[in-house]
Amino acid sequence: MLTIRPMQPFGAEVLGAPPSLELSDADFEAVEQGWARHSILVFRDIAPTPAQQIAFTRRLGPLHIMQPPQYNLDGHPEIFVVGNATEEGKPVGMRDAGMGFHSDGEDKAIPNAGSFLVAVQVPPERGDTLFADMVAAWDALDDATKALLRGRRARFSRAALHHVHYPHLPPLTDQQLRDRPDVWHPIARRHPTSGRVALYIGRWAVEIEGMAQAEGEALIARLLAHAQDPARIYRHAWRPGDGVLWDNRVTQHCATPFDSARYTRRMHRTTLEGEVPLLA
Ligand code: SIN
Repeated sequence: MLTIRPMQPFGAEVLGAPPSLELSDADFEAVEQGWARHSILVFRDIAPTPAQQIAFTRRLGPLHIMQPPQYNLDGHPEIFVVGNATEEGKPVGMRDAGMGFHSDGEDKAIPNAGSFLVAVQVPPERGDTLFADMVAAWDALDDATKALLRGRRARFSRAALHHVHYPHLPPLTDQQLRDRPDVWHPIARRHPTSGRVALYIGRWAVEIEGMAQAEGEALIARLLAHAQDPARIYRHAWRPGDGVLWDNRVTQHCATPFDSARYTRRMHRTTLEGEVPLLA
């Protein structure tokens, strides 16, 4: 039987899961309920094979295959490899992925519902991941800001900000630019099953509907700073055997640096397909 133990300021730890993540129906239901309630779940002492990680995540919904596929695990394209690991002298994962608060796929028409990141190899220090509670962030906004944002959308643009967030990667190709057109999403987003309302803004946001460009940019900067209030952040210091499942509709996350000249950090992420974001 699993134990789900709430953490501060949000999220919960899942204790007692088998390393394979092969859960009984009752335990899986407890995970689903715990995830809906706590937004992020931290699994301890797991060691799923790639096939077991895929099978577990697939019980939560259809899986997304990351594009371009160059960082997806050979033979298991559902697993996106993050970090600086090498095999036979060649990098296998995406380095410096996820720096800056964001939720996965926020710059796509159909963002990802959730993601499950499993630590394969972690440095002994640093390389933590920060998680922001975006339901609490919405609740903590003053009434005037909520009234200003309700019913409004933000434009998210990979084209405009790729060079800012991925300065170490080559510029987007014409094909990548065509594949990732700018998208508009509601800033107050309603969760499709729990009905909870979250502040939905992130590092790819560049404009707010109905506002002059400078005014919108200033508001985006204010909302991002508000979202990153340490009072609503859970910092995950990775231990071997950890896995974190997060709901992209109600959280943001941010990778942090580590000494990549000394240490290897290798993470395997499975990613869930999502739905068109609902306006709250
Ligand atoms: C991600 O954004 O999915 C990666 C986060 C991390 O590696 O800490």
